[in-house]
Amino acid sequence: METVATCVVTYAFFIQLVFGGILVGDDTLYTSDDKLYILNVSNFKPMVSGSNSAWVVEFYNSWCGFCKRFAPTWKDFASDIHAWEGIVSVGVVDCADDNNNPLCREYEVMRYPTIRMFSAKHSGKLGIELQKDTIDNMRHALLDFLEKEQMEGRGSSWPNLNPYRSSDLKNLWKDAQEEVSYVMITFEEPDSYIGREIILDLHKIKFIQVRRATTHNEALSRLLDVSIYPHLSVVNRGLESFALHPEGKTRRNFISAIVSFLESEGVAGLDTKKSFSHTGVVIENIEVKHMDNKMHLHGVHIYYKDIIGALAYSLQHEIPLHSIITGEALAALRNYVKILAKYFPVDSQGEEFLGKIKEWVISTGDPVQGQSFLAKLKTFQDESGFTLPVLQDWKGCRGSKQHFRGYPCSLWQTFHMLTVNSVLKNSHNLENFNSLEVLDAMLGYITNFFGCEDCASHFKQMAAESLHTDVQRAEDSILWLWRSHNKANKRLKGDVTEDPMHPKIQFPPRSACPACVDGNGVWNEIEVLRYLKRIYDPENLIYPPPFSSDDKKIDNNAANEVEGKKVGWDFSFADISLCVVLYITSAAILVLVYIKFILSRRYKKKSFVYDLLGKV
Ligand SMILES: Cc1cc2nc3c(=O)[nH]c(=O)nc-3n(C[C@H](O)[C@H](O)[C@H](O)COP(=O)(O)OP(=O)(O)OC[C@H]3O[C@@H](n4cnc5c(N)ncnc54)[C@H](O)[C@@H]3O)c2cc1C
Ligand SMILES: *[C@@H]1O[C@H](CO)[C@@H](O)[C@H](O)[C@H]1NC(C)=O
Repeated sequence: METVATCVVTYAFFIQLVFGGILVGDDTLYTSDDKLYILNVSNFKPMVSGSNSAWVVEFYNSWCGFCKRFAPTWKDFASDIHAWEGIVSVGVVDCADDNNNPLCREYEVMRYPTIRMFSAKHSGKLGIELQKDTIDNMRHALLDFLEKEQMEGRGSSWPNLNPYRSSDLKNLWKDAQEEVSYVMITFEEPDSYIGREIILDLHKIKFIQVRRATTHNEALSRLLDVSIYPHLSVVNRGLESFALHPEGKTRRNFISAIVSFLESEGVAGLDTKKSFSHTGVVIENIEVKHMDNKMHLHGVHIYYKDIIGALAYSLQHEIPLHSIITGEALAALRNYVKILAKYFPVDSQGEEFLGKIKEWVISTGDPVQGQSFLAKLKTFQDESGFTLPVLQDWKGCRGSKQHFRGYPCSLWQTFHMLTVNSVLKNSHNLENFNSLEVLDAMLGYITNFFGCEDCASHFKQMAAESLHTDVQRAEDSILWLWRSHNKANKRLKGDVTEDPMHPKIQFPPRSACPACVDGNGVWNEIEVLRYLKRIYDPENLIYPPPFSSDDKKIDNNAANEVEGKKVGWDFSFADISLCVVLYITSAAILVLVYIKFILSRRYKKKSFVYDLLGKV
């Protein structure tokens, strides 16, 4: 019975939609759902004149055929530049509405549609005509207008649309707001629009600034090694620069490249939202999805997803690869599971799981079979109710290509986190704390289990050189690992393994921790320590761990939704036939109403023409 009701309700809704659309759809070409402002005689002046943004307004007439055919394009145009809101707004005025007569007369609108562009703070001028054209051409013409506006001194609060002419990267930062972490530079031919488009598309994202340079700026092209145009580079506050590699040369490709860069840097979550298109072109708008306020914007975020991913890969893959674990390797495994049980952040089920592994590995005799280790993982997961993720889906460690970053990245982070957590957890008792506990276990793990041999030997060498001399006080372990990681970064800079989207830098970048490094590049280790203890504090990892109660709630909801749908669409044969009967009946009514509507419309049209002639 419930399904019958669903069917009736659906139909009622459908009928209302169709009929409602016909009955009101005739004289409103635009609705409040469109991404534009519906202007009229009373709100035009307050909104358009005196506004800080420029305006582009279509004066249309709801009965004019051309206007009707053009409306979908205008709606899509408005969606296409929706992100430019604040710089330029899109509006429409219906000149067929008698009330708007004075307005349309004042602006000397003679033909429909007429499109006018208005300066910011325009006062009483008629505006400049924009030709009706394709979305792309109208957007380009609008950009020319806006750039000219800015050159003539209007729009000084807008982002700079003029080309960057200096070859000194420092000047890029001169007028950047404090919250800006990266300047993106597009390199392009002088007549290309991509730079200006992206400047406006992304102008609301406060932690980046986009500038454009043209082929005329040869010195800058040389400095940043640009030879093919258009091109996209990033410069950080440390004046380090690198190229992003959009998949194609279009505005959308460039935006996607910037969005994925920002996401992988953890600077921001961004959403590209597809809007409903009226003409069939794909329109995407960028929206800031989430910004973490726990950590101050700039730079580095460490994700729990990566840390747990490293744990899963190491336990389920790397360790069981060894058919027999014995002697030194077994001792290393014992140390490793000990520090995991002590310092790896998990919920109570996870604690039980890690505790059981530890007990088993410690108490079981030498040798341990890789296979039995794997089998025990399964058993202990079942017993504790804890699940290790199976698929490797990296977040902050996601490379621009499959073979970049991933596990090694997450393993570094895991050990940084473990050194930090060991200090945090022993903070009440640092005198008796073994500051080598985590690093010894790490060294053992890397030399015996980490799949990359080269890495193991380098790491062993670094440990032999300085581990025992440099790590004395409790917090030295954190700094030693940081220093060693930076040595690795330095050695690997420019290496084929370097992800071009994530160049090897000396960590932390100045943009992330300005206090960590002075003007001559000398580290302030007190600040570095403070910084590392903050970002690698398990409390500060980003994204709730998979076991958080919030997540469970969401999961339950999702499950219910799926269930609900199943029930809702599980029609029996009788229900379907009922729907068919309803459908046929409503179709018949629809036809009748349509015929009636056509007749009345003919009549209405005539009266409109008459009205208009009367007015002019
Ligand atoms: C122990 C170990 C030794 C390795 N040795 C080699 C080697 O000899 N040769 C080789 O080709 N590859 C080696 N690798 C792999 C290599 O270091 C990188 O992990 C890999 O190239 C992926 O680099 P990435 O850009 O993701 O950043 P990674 O260097 O993996 O860094 C991961 C993240 O840690 C943070 N980070 C970076 N530097 C520091 C720092 N100094 N202190 C704290 N946090 C930091 C950043 O957020 C960074 O994104 C080693 C990996 C490990 C775990
Ligand atoms: C103009 O539009 C506003 C907002 O939609 C509305 O509140 C107002 O009544 C309209 N004025 C006229 C004269 O139609």
